[in-house]
Amino acid sequence: MVAEIRFDDRVAIVTGAGTGLGRAHALGLAARGAKVVVNDLGVGRDGSGASSEAADAVVAEIKAMGGEAMAHGCDVSDEDGVKDMVAQAMDAWGRVDIAVNNAGILRDKTFAKMEMSDFRKVVDVHLIGSANVAHACWPHMRAQKYGRVVFTASASGIYGNFGQSNYGAAKAAMIGLMNVLHIEGARDNIRVNTLAPTAATRMTEELLPAEAAALLAPETITPGLLYLVSEDAPSRVILGAGAGSFAQTRIYETTGITLQDADNTPEAVAAQFARITDAEGQQELADAFSQTKKYALNAAQARGLKLDW
Ligand SMILES: NC(=O)c1ccc[n+]([C@@H]2O[C@H](COP(=O)([O-])OP(=O)(O)OC[C@H]3O[C@@H](n4cnc5c(N)ncnc54)[C@H](O)[C@@H]3O)[C@@H](O)[C@H]2O)c1
Repeated sequence: MVAEIRFDDRVAIVTGAGTGLGRAHALGLAARGAKVVVNDLGVGRDGSGASSEAADAVVAEIKAMGGEAMAHGCDVSDEDGVKDMVAQAMDAWGRVDIAVNNAGILRDKTFAKMEMSDFRKVVDVHLIGSANVAHACWPHMRAQKYGRVVFTASASGIYGNFGQSNYGAAKAAMIGLMNVLHIEGARDNIRVNTLAPTAATRMTEELLPAEAAALLAPETITPGLLYLVSEDAPSRVILGAGAGSFAQTRIYETTGITLQDADNTPEAVAAQFARITDAEGQQELADAFSQTKKYALNAAQARGLKLDW
């Protein structure tokens, strides 16, 4: 049996928590005892405008249910604003245990019509924003020997979606950031995961049939998020979540082949492509050097050399 998951005495920052998924996560954390920084710039879906109304309303909801919360209206892509937010959390509550990187915008256009300024803006909010928040929390999490960080990716980044080159690239970058922070954070008990949600929010409202939208409420995803930031959280997991479905996305490398010297030709790669891509025996690799080591050992073996690595 799993003990009730609680966040008493934990301090959480949830970005983009004025509406949609972030709001559901902030309320879910607060309902289980966390003190919550409700961050939101209060922008439109494309990142335009700014307002403190939505964040203030979520703080009021948390206080009304007897919880503790503060609003912070920084733009996550502004490093100084994020530093100020983390400093305010430290001043008020003395620690930062949980960082939920959720703030996001869309500027969809086909790549042919995409302005690079819209590409950069989306990368700024999702990737640089998430890195800013994790970076400002990092020294406190290391000092506490406790941290739980979640990045919010998307099926668009993992699998692709028409018209979302900027968003898909930024969302796939969450996985790269998670992989490295997972490795660097492990010795200080910092666990890092990625949520890949799909929900009916203002971001997706005109894409979903009404019956599907009713099933895809943001609150159906929050239990998965709460587990990913809990005491017994896993680390380096990409968790797909929506409408009560939860599934893991994994990255595998196939066993592959080894071609040496005169045999190492493009024609040999073409001829053996079915073997290169054969899923039999495929594995998840622990880190980048696991791949380097695998290839060097393969080459040594093919040449009858002994390699001590
Ligand atoms: N809704 C989905 O189906 C879906 C699917 C995959 C991924 N996501 C991701 O989930 C996250 C939440 O999305 P949502 O659907 O709840 O969207 P939403 O538009 O309802 O909420 C996003 C919130 O982020 C805030 N925000 C935007 N830019 C900000 C910035 N620079 N600084 C601070 N706050 C900012 C907005 O004001 C808004 O309140 C996003 O990262 C989104 O990309 C959503």
